Amino acid sequence: MIWCVLLGSLLLQGVSSSVISKRAFTPTVKSATVVGNVADPAINRDSCGSSRQPFDSNGVPTLPIWASSASWSNINADGTPDLLQYGGGGSRDPYFFYTDDECNTNSAGSCPDGSRYALWPDSPPLVTSTDNNVVTAYTWIRKSRISQRCGPSAVNSTVTLIDFSFSTPDPDPATSLYKMTYSLDNPDRNALPAVSLVDENFWLYGGIPYGAYGSVIKDGTAYLFGKPSNGIVALAKVPAGSIEDKSQYQYWINGAWTSGLPGLNDTNVNIPNVSAGGQGTYYFSDFWNKWVWIGQAGISVSADYFITTADSITGPWESSVNFYSGETGTYPLGAYTLQAHPGLNPGGSTATNEIYISHTKNDAYANTALYSTPLIHIEWN
Ligand SMILES: *[C@@H]1O[C@H](CO)[C@@H](O)[C@H](O)[C@H]1NC(C)=O
Ligand SMILES: *[C@@H]1O[C@H](CO)[C@@H](O)[C@H](O)[C@H]1NC(C)=O
Ligand SMILES: *[C@@H]1O[C@H](CO)[C@@H](O)[C@H](O)[C@H]1NC(C)=O
Repeated sequence: MIWCVLLGSLLLQGVSSSVISKRAFTPTVKSATVVGNVADPAINRDSCGSSRQPFDSNGVPTLPIWASSASWSNINADGTPDLLQYGGGGSRDPYFFYTDDECNTNSAGSCPDGSRYALWPDSPPLVTSTDNNVVTAYTWIRKSRISQRCGPSAVNSTVTLIDFSFSTPDPDPATSLYKMTYSLDNPDRNALPAVSLVDENFWLYGGIPYGAYGSVIKDGTAYLFGKPSNGIVALAKVPAGSIEDKSQYQYWINGAWTSGLPGLNDTNVNIPNVSAGGQGTYYFSDFWNKWVWIGQAGISVSADYFITTADSITGPWESSVNFYSGETGTYPLGAYTLQAHPGLNPGGSTATNEIYISHTKNDAYANTALYSTPLIHIEWN
């Protein structure tokens, strides 16, 4: 067992003793099992619903692309997740739809000037309630407008799909809030949750995109993380039933919850070590009795999974560690969208010492990229 001194963080919590040691919590992997490729046979998907494409008889993606999609899968009789997904063969519209001012004349959000609205969620939806068998969930998506390096548009079938210049003239766009509802009584197994747009500019241009970077609910409170372009990670909270009511939000500033919305350049808004810098998933582990973030490093195209944990969601958080490295694909963007799936644990409970994780694996195939989504089951020591 490693012991270390976290003096600075403990002092922030008001502990006055001058020499305090705290046991570092460093999760290690007992076993990692690649379960298989999670896939909807109707689509070739870039993970986390961030891009959707039909494909030809060889499995090669074809144009046009769909900016986002949704599917669902069953839980097997033994409690493990079924890899087969349903729902993607339905509507050929982006799941998170575009508005008139987001170049919605095509399914990719491509604009006449060659830029593109990349309405890609960065984290899983936040399920806030199940009332009368109707599930409600929310997703915050930054209205990112990206430049395209290869290929002026995604609507012309002779243009290459390679499109990895994610540079943008607007690094801190507004953030849209989408709402999803789904009836558990719906007999159609291809039915997807209905989506509506609560507010296209829920967080204004130039502000902190709370909720887009990650979200988690505990004891009726929703905690929402936002990571603007300056790299800080800020935290807001709101009662889970009041997601749409901005007057109910509180923001973590200078070590306290306050009701005034901070600006992204304000000091003492950042929570140190609350992630490894890239995309990922927040949850609360009942087994560890700790807050957990699992995801990828800041600029990363490899399947290197990092974890950090905390006793309090506001910190101090441990330094993140690389606990597992999965298979990276052969394409230049070999692996990304590293996520954890606490909902796939047996019974959806986090009271067991395990977690499912997945990433997008991007492999070269012919002259293009083939996506797969390996699902990996981790048992912790
Ligand atoms: C697709 O775009 C390329 C590049 O702009 C152009 O040369 C080609 O003619 C276009 N093809 C079609 C079918 O429109
Ligand atoms: C935040 O600071 C950066 C760097 O100084 C600056 O470019 C940006 O305009 C600032 N944004 C706001 C909203 O103040
Ligand atoms: C947390 O982040 C700070 C600032 O980036 C870093 O110096 C420190 O080593 C990290 N780890 C811990 C445990 O505080």
